[in-house]
Amino acid sequence: MRVKKNNFTVNEISKARKIYNYFIKYSFSNFEEKVLSKSAFNLLLNKVKKNKLPFILAIEDHEVIGLAFVNKFREKSGYRFSYEHSIYIDPDFINNGYGNKILKELVKICKKITKIKNLIAVIGGKDNFASIKIHKKNGFQYIGTIKKAGYKKNKWVDSIYMQKRL
Ligand SMILES: CC(C)(COP(=O)(O)OP(=O)(O)OC[C@H]1O[C@@H](n2cnc3c(N)ncnc32)[C@H](O)[C@@H]1OP(=O)(O)O)[C@@H](O)C(=O)NCCC(=O)NCCS
Repeated sequence: MRVKKNNFTVNEISKARKIYNYFIKYSFSNFEEKVLSKSAFNLLLNKVKKNKLPFILAIEDHEVIGLAFVNKFREKSGYRFSYEHSIYIDPDFINNGYGNKILKELVKICKKITKIKNLIAVIGGKDNFASIKIHKKNGFQYIGTIKKAGYKKNKWVDSIYMQKRL
């Protein structure tokens, strides 16, 4: 697996959006309830770029098999050293170590960006064992749970917070 950082092709962006939308549709890992259109996904990508934060793609055999990016944790200025990251692996490729690898790469990149002092994972669902596991492996600590933080598919879903100080 290699990581691509910039200059994504239209096809690569389209595949990344497909993966992202899969988890909107079929999981509680993302609290969006409607899939993102091309323009909404481009807005997300451009917001990350505009904030000079990383947006990376995981490539295997010339195919996008995952994405990861960092965003502001919250907008208020006092939060300026805290960032939230997200990772999504193509469902056909999960449980093969890619999530762990892309998170490792993302942390490496974030360590070079001095404004990033806190990296925070907001994990959808207390049964998201794969996400909890890769974060533990990469030195994230469990901070707490917001119970019933989200409501999706007629179900209340907890948010698990895990943090790494950089
Ligand atoms: C979370 C996610 C990124 C992990 O990616 P992945 O490529 O499957 O992760 P890896 O294969 O590197 O590691 C998964 C680990 O969880 C373990 N795992 C998976 N399902 C599990 C379960 N039900 N119970 C216990 N452990 C489980 C795997 O055994 C593996 O651990 P190991 O390598 O020690 O055997 C991926 O599942 C995903 O995209 N999920 C949806 C989006 C999401 O939740 N993103 C995180 C939000 S920040």
